[in-house]
Amino acid sequence: MKTNFPKYQWTASGDDGVLLGEKYAIKITSYDQTIVECDTIFKELQLPILEARIITPEDKSLWIEVEKALNDVEYKDKYGKEINHITQALVMNRISGVELHKLSLDKPIEKETLHQLFHDIGKLVVIDLYVRNYDRFPLSAFRDELLHSEFDDVGDERWIPWDENPENILIDITSGRAIPIDSASYFKGIDTTAYRTIVRRLLSQQIQEIMWHILTSPNYARLFCPSIDMANESIIQHAKQLGIFAKLHAGMEEAIGFIGNKL
Ligand SMILES: Nc1ncnc2c1ncn2[C@@H]1O[C@H](COP(=O)(O)OP(=O)(O)OP(=O)(O)O)[C@@H](O)[C@H]1O
Ligand SMILES: [Mg+2]
Repeated sequence: MKTNFPKYQWTASGDDGVLLGEKYAIKITSYDQTIVECDTIFKELQLPILEARIITPEDKSLWIEVEKALNDVEYKDKYGKEINHITQALVMNRISGVELHKLSLDKPIEKETLHQLFHDIGKLVVIDLYVRNYDRFPLSAFRDELLHSEFDDVGDERWIPWDENPENILIDITSGRAIPIDSASYFKGIDTTAYRTIVRRLLSQQIQEIMWHILTSPNYARLFCPSIDMANESIIQHAKQLGIFAKLHAGMEEAIGFIGNKL
């Protein structure tokens, strides 16, 4: 039967990709329960969330959506390989927003929007450190401190854990929100107590360094700097003049206050 609903399609970005439909975004592989746990923390911190839920065929109304999505792509993954029997999937709300590095900056972003964005980003950085999500922010300067597990992603020539992954943060320029996607927590093989001690120390002693690494990373600097070829000191100066430095700091402090006694 022919319907007029737009078809689900694989996203071009992401290693395994996501099936994007009109209302939902569906993941068949590379997710786990920790995305739902991250969502819970983000929600409590008033960050925008995808309402990710892992569903099975028993969740009839949403499973119909998974079947429609698979049908639309003829049961082929994004590389054309046959998808076999699926017993669960991750269903998220489809959200509007543009991947950080793909944002077109034809006109400068309003100051208020930048403030909201960097406030969100500040909260996100702290939570990513807390849950040990090494797949979003440019924190490779701290890689050696943030412990290593044989179960960590080995990465490839483009990316290894704690390198920036700008595909995992969407920017909604109209609402000025930074939306976390593809969140995860990686603790397998990690001594949680030792890790928490490191993060607590990092956040109390090197918060300014963390902020520097984010603000001077070209994908972030370009949001507020006329040119990213400026010296790092000038980029930071610019961030301070625009009040962005203070907003990033405030977001981080808010999240630190939130997780405070758990660290
Ligand atoms: N809920 C959503 N709403 C809109 N777009 C989304 C949503 N989830 C993902 N996307 C888009 O799909 C892309 C790929 O998503 P995601 O990062 O979850 O896939 P992946 O293949 O697991 O990636 P990775 O290579 O990081 O493991 C994102 O960068 C984003 O552009
Ligand atoms: Mg991703």
